[in-house]
Amino acid sequence: MFCVKHIIRTIPTRKFLLYQKRYKYYFVTTPIFYVNASPHIGHLYSALIADAMHRYHRLLGCEQTLFATGTDEHGTKIQEAASRAGCHIPDYCDQISRQYHELFHAFEVEYTDFVRTTQQRHKTAVHHFWETLRSRGHIYKGTYSGWYCVPEESFLTEDQLKEARGDDGKPRKVSAETGHPVEWMEETNYMFRLSALQGELLSWLKTEPVRPARFQQQLLAWVGGPSALRDVSVSRPSSRVHWGVPVPGDHGQTVYVWLDALVNYLTAAGYPGEPLPGHWPPSLHVIGKDILKFHGIYWPAFLISAGLEPPQAILCHSHWTVDGEKMSKSRGNVINPLGCAEVFTASGLRYFLLREGTPHSDANYSETKVMRVLNSELADTLGNLLSRSCARAVNPAQVFPGYDTSLLPSLCGSEGQQLLESLAHLPDAVAKHYEECAFYRGVDVIMGTLRLANRLFEVQRPWELAKCGGDNERLRCTLHLAMEALRVCGIALQPVAPSLAGRVLDKLGVPAERRCWADMQTCADQDAAIGKQQVILYQRVLSGR
Ligand code: MSP
Repeated sequence: MFCVKHIIRTIPTRKFLLYQKRYKYYFVTTPIFYVNASPHIGHLYSALIADAMHRYHRLLGCEQTLFATGTDEHGTKIQEAASRAGCHIPDYCDQISRQYHELFHAFEVEYTDFVRTTQQRHKTAVHHFWETLRSRGHIYKGTYSGWYCVPEESFLTEDQLKEARGDDGKPRKVSAETGHPVEWMEETNYMFRLSALQGELLSWLKTEPVRPARFQQQLLAWVGGPSALRDVSVSRPSSRVHWGVPVPGDHGQTVYVWLDALVNYLTAAGYPGEPLPGHWPPSLHVIGKDILKFHGIYWPAFLISAGLEPPQAILCHSHWTVDGEKMSKSRGNVINPLGCAEVFTASGLRYFLLREGTPHSDANYSETKVMRVLNSELADTLGNLLSRSCARAVNPAQVFPGYDTSLLPSLCGSEGQQLLESLAHLPDAVAKHYEECAFYRGVDVIMGTLRLANRLFEVQRPWELAKCGGDNERLRCTLHLAMEALRVCGIALQPVAPSLAGRVLDKLGVPAERRCWADMQTCADQDAAIGKQQVILYQRVLSGR
């Protein structure tokens, strides 16, 4: 096993110690997913970011964490999808909600709570929240008329519309953002006084809760702009939308699906029960750019009006396109994650999405790219370093040599020195990127270090050192550095690729209790036996489907 004594690597001096910042509590959420269709890689991406942030905070040593996800099951979209599928609505919801459970299980999304908007605990939360808003004077009854977009479940303003030709060739108004048709509608609804909240929203936005900066700026422009903050309709006549939560005391109206859905975050926090420590406000909502307005304007406005704190942070990510095109059912290019996992493995696809997804701009999915990234990074860089440093020809004693000051670093030349410096900087460098949910950058740092370790191997040629049995110290030093790189990178990779990283650490013999973020800076000073199991970390993929 890994040895009893551990020492702190001292070279070079650290500038910041971000990862030593202690978070006591951490509460992260994904959006809850519509059950009108099966999950695709875009949905999975939102969940992976949240899962990676959750795992990262657990590695930092948070005492208590919550990670909530779930399914959004009410509204006309769902009514229609169930009827298209010829299903009873609740059965249909069960079926798609189950697909999300299966997806998350396959991709190691380890949530601590799964909220379904059809659950009784959620309906109780919605009713209580509604009553709170109403009793505080934020909801009133009014007649509303305007252009209504059914797929978006929203009234749109003139500047959110454009002219387009319908299937019959006639001009008609459509949503400028999504291209969905709109129809003129006039109805009696309950309205929420959003227009009164500009000042509060601007103060909240001044705390810069939204990342990346471009989405924060977009919100500032919307909230500060002249037409952004019109009151919003927060109910629909139940004659039109019957599949939803009835408005308390008025069963002729159904609670607006977005109000209903947003409350899921409170449901997960145990609302309306007395809040437990660390249960409110959420530390981070992970969302996609299409739902920024709902989370960055409506949600904080609802919360402030109900006397509750708005979220501490929102990470808004961009979208996945496929071979350069928007993913859509009509284009037939929707990527099913479980199908891809058959070729690339679930761990491989998870790694790819977090490795290539960039929050600030859209990322493109193509099988050629997935293959290239996984072969070059998981197989040729990480996998190769693991197998070459554990190979009997190089490492006949089958050990992870301990750190020995008399050996290091001079024996391994400038490559050894460079690698040692890179290892000393890695925990802070990666933490800084993970804090921003920039996993692609964190992985860049990790891969850079692993490449240095492979380079050290090539320069030192340990297989020759082992053969002649002569320069034993240089061999030990090379192996120590290579395995230390694997250990440190394995710990840092856990949020992105949990089971792959776990296999690296298992093979090195690193005990489960020594895999926290702070453990990166301490290494063993005695030899430890490595695992006996044969590991091929990632089998190269030779062609797509
Ligand atoms: N039900 C609402 C969210 C309510 S949260 C209170 C919803 N659901 S969704 O299923 O349509 O989308 C869930 C998440 O998937 C969103 O974060 C959305 O941005 C994300 N994605 C959907 N398509 C996507 C891509 N093509 N690429 C990346 N993420 C995308 O919206």
